[in-house]
Amino acid sequence: MSVFAQFSEGKVDPHSDFARALVAGLTAPEKSIPCRFLYDAAGSALFERITTLPEYYPTRTETGILRARAAEIAADAAPGNVLIEFGSGSSTKTELLLAEMHDLYAYVPVDISRAALRDAQARIRQRFPGIVVLPVCGDFSRPLALPTQIARRPRLGFFPGSTIGNLTNDAAVDLLANMALILGTGARLIIGADLKKDVNRLLRAYDDAAGVTAAFNLNLLKRANRELGTDFDIDQFDHLATYDEDKGRIEIYLVSQADQTVSLLGRKIRFAAGEKIHTEDSHKYDIAGFQALAKRAGWRPLKVWTDPERLFSVHVLEAE
Ligand code: TRP
Repeated sequence: MSVFAQFSEGKVDPHSDFARALVAGLTAPEKSIPCRFLYDAAGSALFERITTLPEYYPTRTETGILRARAAEIAADAAPGNVLIEFGSGSSTKTELLLAEMHDLYAYVPVDISRAALRDAQARIRQRFPGIVVLPVCGDFSRPLALPTQIARRPRLGFFPGSTIGNLTNDAAVDLLANMALILGTGARLIIGADLKKDVNRLLRAYDDAAGVTAAFNLNLLKRANRELGTDFDIDQFDHLATYDEDKGRIEIYLVSQADQTVSLLGRKIRFAAGEKIHTEDSHKYDIAGFQALAKRAGWRPLKVWTDPERLFSVHVLEAE
C-alpha cells in the first residue's frame, strides 16, 4: 500500500510531530531521532522492563537512596508544603516520599501526557486517599503556572531518574532555571543525577544481555512503521551504546547493517552500511560537576546523598 493510500485512509498524518521530526532528523547530514519519541505505549512498557534489569542500576539505586532518606526529606520539609513532581512516571519513588510526608498539603504531578496524569492521580488516590492531588498538564521546559490553591505554600520539587542527564549541559541549565522559575524563590528541589563510573558498567546498563534496551531503541523504527507507514527492516539495524569520556556521556545509536533505502512519507532515505542514527545521550556527572550545573541555573546545593558504591546521587537544592 502506498503512503498516499494510507494517508487517504486516515492512517498516516504527515504533519504529526513524529512525522515532521523524523523527516527533519533523517534528512540531516548526521541522522538523529529526538529521544522523546522513544516513549509510546510499547516504548514505555519496554522502559519499565529496563528499570528492573540486573545491569540497569540507576532505578534501584536511586530508589534505595530515597528509601533511606525519605524520613529525613519529610523532616526537612516545611509544614503544609506541596510536592511537585516533574514528569509523573515513577510512582514507586513518589510513594516512598508521600508515605513519610504526613504534613503535606498537596501532590502536584506535572506532565504533558493527560493519560500519564490520569494514571498517576488514580494510583495516588488509591494508595493515599487523604492526599490532595492537583495534576498540571503542561510542558515544564517552559514557564508554567501552578494551581492557585497552592499559592504561597512552601514547595518541594521532585525530578528523579537522572532524566536531567538526557539533556545537553546548556539545556539542563535552562531546564533547571525554568524549574526555579516555576517553583519560586526559596523552593527546594530533589533531583537524581547518575554518576561517572567504570565505563564497562555504564555500557552494560545501556546494552543489557537480554536485549531489552536494544528492543527499546529499535522500537523507534517499529513505531515509524506503525504510525507513518515507513518500511524499516528492523533486522537491518543494530542497537549501539558508546561512552564519550570527554563529554561524560553515554550515546545511543541505531546502526544500519547494510547499504539500504527506506521510504519515509514519499521520500527515499539512504543509509550506508555502518551509518548511525543518534537517538539519545545520557550524561554522567561527578558531584561537584552537577552542583556547578545547578548553581549556573540559580540553585544552591544543600545536601547530596549517594549509595555505598557511589553509583548514583540525589541532590537537594534551594532556589535563590
Ligand atoms: N533516563 C534514562 C537514562 O538515561 C533513559 C534510558 C535508559 C535510555 N536506558 C536507555 C534511553 C536506553 C535510550 C536508550 O538512563
